[in-house]
Amino acid sequence: MTAMTPAEGRTAAPADSAFVRACRGLPVDRTPVWFMRQAGRSLPEYRALREGVAMLDACSRPDMITEITLQPVRRHGVDAAVFFSDIVVPLHAIGLGVEIVPGTGPVIEKPITGEADLDRLRDLAPEDVWYVTEAVRTLVAELGATPLIGFAGAPFTVASYLIEGGPSRTYTKTKALMYGRPELWHALCARLAAITLSFLRVQIAAGASAIQLFDSWAGALSARDYERFVAPHSRAVFAGLSDVDIPKIHFGVGTSHLLEAIGEVGADVVGVDWRTPLDAAAARVGDRSVQGNLDPTVLFAPVEVLDAEIRRILAEGKAARGHVFNLGHGVMPDTDPDALTRTVALVHEYSS
Ligand code: CP3
Repeated sequence: MTAMTPAEGRTAAPADSAFVRACRGLPVDRTPVWFMRQAGRSLPEYRALREGVAMLDACSRPDMITEITLQPVRRHGVDAAVFFSDIVVPLHAIGLGVEIVPGTGPVIEKPITGEADLDRLRDLAPEDVWYVTEAVRTLVAELGATPLIGFAGAPFTVASYLIEGGPSRTYTKTKALMYGRPELWHALCARLAAITLSFLRVQIAAGASAIQLFDSWAGALSARDYERFVAPHSRAVFAGLSDVDIPKIHFGVGTSHLLEAIGEVGADVVGVDWRTPLDAAAARVGDRSVQGNLDPTVLFAPVEVLDAEIRRILAEGKAARGHVFNLGHGVMPDTDPDALTRTVALVHEYSS
């Protein structure tokens, strides 16, 4: 990123947006809000566009990526856009057989079982994801002052899909490999960290204003195992971005016991699920901002409940260096889009 001149600093630019400012712990006029999984999922206009197009095909088409990324910005007036893609897109792009099965999630054709499989995980080149570069450039131009958040899956969460072959509740095979073949585990995660870093750098080079590293399933590990088996690899991803002056967000679910560690591997903002109050989280993440943490099921509750939860979260978020309002995990597919629009309006009203 090029340095801003003072004059540019006063014009409307993503770097001056409430979202970027809150990530940096700077004062804001009102609390910024966006939703994990805001692109796609609950929107009828998304479903109409996706009709007959497989998820990974949609993720490879700049026109679709651009339109789907913009849909929630137009409809809800959120303070940031999140790039429409998936954590398995880089794997697909390097030719590893992967499919996203509707209602299930990523399914791996030939899961990783041994040393020989590592050769299938070559590093990602920008040309492999030319459609990402093209879509990010178009989006940055269309979005104007609204920031675009790029993202990638963290080594542990991506490894869990590669080893299990698909979604898992217990991560049995993943943990068996981690405990039983630590050298293979670390070699696998080192390759995934390189791929993740390359994927993020492509999005940043094309103009993303922030990035989020999703380690959605890291909460399945004890703090000790997280430190030993996961932290070095996630740290390598953030270290690879140390020259890039944009906010870096790090998120996982069920991570009450890992909040310190998730920040310390190199994030500016720690994503918090609904299980930990933001004031408690703020006290543990040091000089970092927090993002969260409305329970996504509250969007199905009566308006008075939603209203009260938003007020509570905004009040608790004041304890943090900066607060970006979000859900504690992604938008659920059957969420009423109007509940999301209402949430944006209420967050803005109560925080200004
Ligand atoms: O946040 C956004 O709106 C941007 C798009 C986005 C998608 N996936 C699109 C998607 C993002 C940020 C992701 C990240 C992702 N993908 C994560 C980390 C975030 C999290 O929720 O914890 C994970 C674990 C995945 C893997 C994955 N891909 C899952 C578990 C699923 C859901 C399966 C289902 O249908 O319930 C997917 C599919 C997926 N990724 C969809 C979308 C819009 C649904 C596919 C469809 O519409 O056909």
